[in-house]
Amino acid sequence: MTPPLPRKILVTGGAGFIGANFVRLALAELPECRIVNLDRLTYAGNPANLADLEDQPRYRFVHGDIRDRELVDSIMAEEMIDTVVHFAAESHVDRSITDPDAFIETNITGTFTLLEAARARWLTAAGPGDTTTGTGGAGAGAANTSAAAANHNGGTTAVGETEIDGSGRKAGAERNPVAGDADPGIGDPAAAPPSPRFLHVSTDEVYGSLGPTGYFTEETPYDPRSPYSASKAAADHLARAYFHTYRLPVLVTNCSNNYGPYQFPEKLIPLIINNALEGRELPVYGDGRNVRDWLFVTDHCRALLTVLAAGLPGETYNIGGNNEQENIAIVEIICDLLDERVGPLPGGAPRRSLIRFVTDRPGHDRRYAIDAGKIERELGWEPAVGFTEGIARTIDWYLGNRAWLDGVLDGSYREYYRRMYAHR
Ligand code: NAD
Ligand code: TYD
Repeated sequence: MTPPLPRKILVTGGAGFIGANFVRLALAELPECRIVNLDRLTYAGNPANLADLEDQPRYRFVHGDIRDRELVDSIMAEEMIDTVVHFAAESHVDRSITDPDAFIETNITGTFTLLEAARARWLTAAGPGDTTTGTGGAGAGAANTSAAAANHNGGTTAVGETEIDGSGRKAGAERNPVAGDADPGIGDPAAAPPSPRFLHVSTDEVYGSLGPTGYFTEETPYDPRSPYSASKAAADHLARAYFHTYRLPVLVTNCSNNYGPYQFPEKLIPLIINNALEGRELPVYGDGRNVRDWLFVTDHCRALLTVLAAGLPGETYNIGGNNEQENIAIVEIICDLLDERVGPLPGGAPRRSLIRFVTDRPGHDRRYAIDAGKIERELGWEPAVGFTEGIARTIDWYLGNRAWLDGVLDGSYREYYRRMYAHR
């Protein structure tokens, strides 16, 4: 039986790091899906990330802003969008400290705009398959959505027979246990479209900072401590409010730090790879003992596909790598792997000699660690790529894609770097 896969997906922020990896994976894994990628192409959005998809008939790029309601409405209607996967965000903590405005605009207002567009489209039109907009179909839309809220775990193989929402329903037990299997669109390309889904992609940083022990679970109270995490927390609250108030079929994921191909070299791992290749200093904030739980980006994207296929609307799923590392350890691993692959620095010094401890980030969260037990138990997802393999693949990707790296290291990046690091 074909699982209940989404087919008309609006991806926001698909030209960024995780979005680009997701678009690639989804096109490969979901042969019937069509993806529309709405991206504003900020400094972090890079058309080169998906340049080879230009001729892919199941893919369309739209250059635009998620805050542009008219544009979002037109895409939702024209493309009969049944699934939103919302990545678009300002995503870098350091930038949120120096320039928070864009974080409020994109992360909060942008998310609000998308939620409103989805509400208008799915709850007041006849459903995602209706090419007209907004009039008189409230009943149909609402029924569609509550059925969706009840049944979207059906048909997946990974879930098993575990009761997952306290209602007595069994995940994976039958296709549509509440609505009497009245969802003909699932798995049948000729039938009506699948029930809508709004997957809001978020971060573990909303939970705040941990001491040496403990883990973030889905029940951990929110305690965001940077403008970035506060803006993501606000967006998460809005997304959940749309489920509780309107029954918009929202799912939220909170993931730990990602790494892998196409990550912009403002984040720790690609910044260190790039500086180490260029023979520049490697800036480590504070004492270098802050801990992050690193997950290879493809594992995150697989988790998102799993949540789309099997997650329950209204639910939150934490995603993590079971891979806590101190920053200094990450930097040393990268130095050693680069020495192995391209030889030591000119003059023979090892790359570890480039490490420099610099002034700490204001409000620097000490430790993040995800308990991913819920998604593992209930949806059958777990990370597939261990850190040793993932970091080696990442380094090899950057070594093999120097043109990509050169392309992003433009004047504005150099200026950013000078502004952030020159006086640190
Ligand atoms: P990124 O900064 O690499 O990419 C963000 C993308 O959003 C870019 O392509 C950018 O052009 C686009 N964008 C920004 N503002 C926009 C707007 N107003 N309208 C349309 N597009 C806009 O980010 P990323 O690291 O790929 O993260 C993607 C999502 O995943 C974010 O929501 C982030 O909070 C979340 N997340 C990231 C991580 C991580 O480690 N990178 C971990 C957990 C969650
Ligand atoms: P980053 O990749 O910015 O992700 P986040 O802050 O969202 O976790 O940073 C990861 C860790 O690395 C964080 O503890 C800050 C630290 N860091 C440095 O020590 N030096 C750097 O140049 C950067 C960018 C980050």
